Amino acid sequence: MPHFMALVYFLMPAIFLSMTLGMRVLTQFLLFLYCKCLWRGLKFVFRKVTGRCELQRICYNNKPGARRTLKIEYMPNDRNVIFFTLLHQLLQNALSVHPDAVEKTIDDIMALKKINPDTNPQLAISLQASLFQIVGYRNLVLEVEKLRREPYDCENPNHEEMLMKLWKTLRPDSVLTGRISKQWCEIGFQGSDPKTDFRGMGLLGLHNLLYFAEHDKAAALQVLHDSLQPKHRNMSKEEASMSKAEWEKQKFDKAIGYSFAIVGINITDLAYSLLASGALKTHLYNVAPEMPSLMHFQQTFCYLMQDFHRFWIEEDPCDIMEFNRVRNKFHKRILKQLKNPDMALCPHFTASDLHLVNL
Ligand SMILES: *[C@@H]1O[C@H](CO)[C@@H](O)[C@H](O)[C@H]1NC(C)=O
Repeated sequence: MPHFMALVYFLMPAIFLSMTLGMRVLTQFLLFLYCKCLWRGLKFVFRKVTGRCELQRICYNNKPGARRTLKIEYMPNDRNVIFFTLLHQLLQNALSVHPDAVEKTIDDIMALKKINPDTNPQLAISLQASLFQIVGYRNLVLEVEKLRREPYDCENPNHEEMLMKLWKTLRPDSVLTGRISKQWCEIGFQGSDPKTDFRGMGLLGLHNLLYFAEHDKAAALQVLHDSLQPKHRNMSKEEASMSKAEWEKQKFDKAIGYSFAIVGINITDLAYSLLASGALKTHLYNVAPEMPSLMHFQQTFCYLMQDFHRFWIEEDPCDIMEFNRVRNKFHKRILKQLKNPDMALCPHFTASDLHLVNL
């Protein structure tokens, strides 16, 4: 018996080694094979029963727009290696994706999945629309990023022209006395040269503000007008007994709306972070049936400006020092809304002329 125990102790490491190396590898391998076969089998049965593959099921069971495209984009890639390899190839050169490349990818997918395009004409169309949206979003992120990185340049006549246009649109009845002027504060810049205010967001801020002013002029003028108003407060007793001059002064001190242009640049920051994080996919996939473009991003900005304005009034902050708090709360609210796959952040002016995918 002691000899036997000694033998066991002696062989222990060897037994252990073979257990771990041999058996464990083998069991894991067998388990893997089993799971794989089981999955294949289930998929095969499912395909036979429904006559469809997973891509088809996604396309047929989800309405077009964010619901469908997000499902395709975030389909677990172990379930559809072929599809993901092709999609990856397509996206790798997203800067130069040609519609033909998307079409070719679709053809490849159909061929590899042995789906007959004649009996499934709708599938190719649906897949193509979703792929365009996925590719378009990527392109848009790159385009927006580029604008954001381009600093405002006083020497560039195009930049200067855009800035002047912004003034003329927002202050049609007022002549700017000079390129450097205190008048810029009237549209909510901080100092006499707007150049410095663009630092955070580069040309993207200017593009957005100008788009808002030009394409949604009435709303932009209204928001600007309101932002310049003193905050409406109920007069307290002491205030009522003050002299008119004192009251005016007091009112002016507390008369803090917000700076239109500065807030516009900051809301550009917010829109940018929604885009970069991917949160804006829900919205853009719902409003851009083909490819989300810069125009869609700018329209989103118009919506955010107006919605933020409403939110600011509702929140009724004491002064601009509360900007941070109100902005954070607003950001959270938008993020929550975008979790709903049917969400679209549409400014009123696009509702009629935008061909919405669904709503
Ligand atoms: C916008 O405001 C937030 C919060 O106050 C701040 O963190 C952010 O840097 C601002 N962005 C720009 C571009 O000014």
